Amino acid sequence: MKQFLTLDDLTSFDAQVKLAQKIKADPYQFETIGKRKTLGLLFFNPSLRTRLSTQKAGRLLGMDVMVMNFSNEAWAIEYENETIMEGLRSEHVKEAAQVVSQYCDVVGIRAFATLTDKDKDESEQVLQRFIEHATVPILNMESATAHPLQALADALTLSELSLPAKPKVVLTWAPHPKALPHAVGNSFTRMMQHLDADFIIANPKGYDLDPRITKNIPVIHNQDEALKDADVVYAKNWSSYEQYGQILRTDNTWMLTPEKMKLTNNAAFMHCLPIRRNVVVSDGVLDHPTSKVIEQANNRTYAAAAVLKNLLS
Ligand code: CP
Repeated sequence: MKQFLTLDDLTSFDAQVKLAQKIKADPYQFETIGKRKTLGLLFFNPSLRTRLSTQKAGRLLGMDVMVMNFSNEAWAIEYENETIMEGLRSEHVKEAAQVVSQYCDVVGIRAFATLTDKDKDESEQVLQRFIEHATVPILNMESATAHPLQALADALTLSELSLPAKPKVVLTWAPHPKALPHAVGNSFTRMMQHLDADFIIANPKGYDLDPRITKNIPVIHNQDEALKDADVVYAKNWSSYEQYGQILRTDNTWMLTPEKMKLTNNAAFMHCLPIRRNVVVSDGVLDHPTSKVIEQANNRTYAAAAVLKNLLS
């Protein structure tokens, strides 16, 4: 594997989940694979889980790890070609990517959607421009349209649950005061297409995800109907895709509450974190034993280690 931008880059999804399970069972079994190799992690946006779990994953494989926060530590990068760089951007991606490639054997990049320019976001400008000029593999640590490391960790979490054959899994939109990207919803949806499950998406009208990603997955605009008899509930906010980046409603009727969870089959509750308590989900759901959010975060390490192992191979 030369790069990991989406789950489609995996040679085998099932093998990757199995490798993550194997690393979780014995985390240091591949500790020499990354000896004398360096992992560089470039963050253009904030992070807690991705930043720490990917560092930990690199170290489990014996790698040295360097982290740089581009919002306040590095020169602002120019991505356009043949531009006169007389503005605020001091360094061109052509040099930056080549220079970073000299120091690192794998480079992870986090670069969120702008949510103001759909075409630019869908072009994945930051990742694609780094890929164009880097000479080492690039790892997507959440881009404008995808968060595959999260989705792989979610697959690992699902594999650990006691679920019936063909469980009912619901990805439900939930409220949030800020406009959020579609990356987690997109990647979870792509990931579920690899599993044998009764998977549906619930969101208010106007919030349908990109139909090229949801394909023929049922999209229901009534949350209570969607939650009925669910075995897993995955909550996530995203802004409107059609009215790109817009917040269309601010009420709390889609917030996940214990009353709503009573509609389910004692469902496991999942969310990628960070989460706003009593906005996205009430305390009673998040603090209930059926909440899997902490284990999801734990599984980020093993999912990242499995991907890094393949990138190093
Ligand atoms: N879930 C996730 O990617 O968390 P961070 O934004 O904290 O990295």
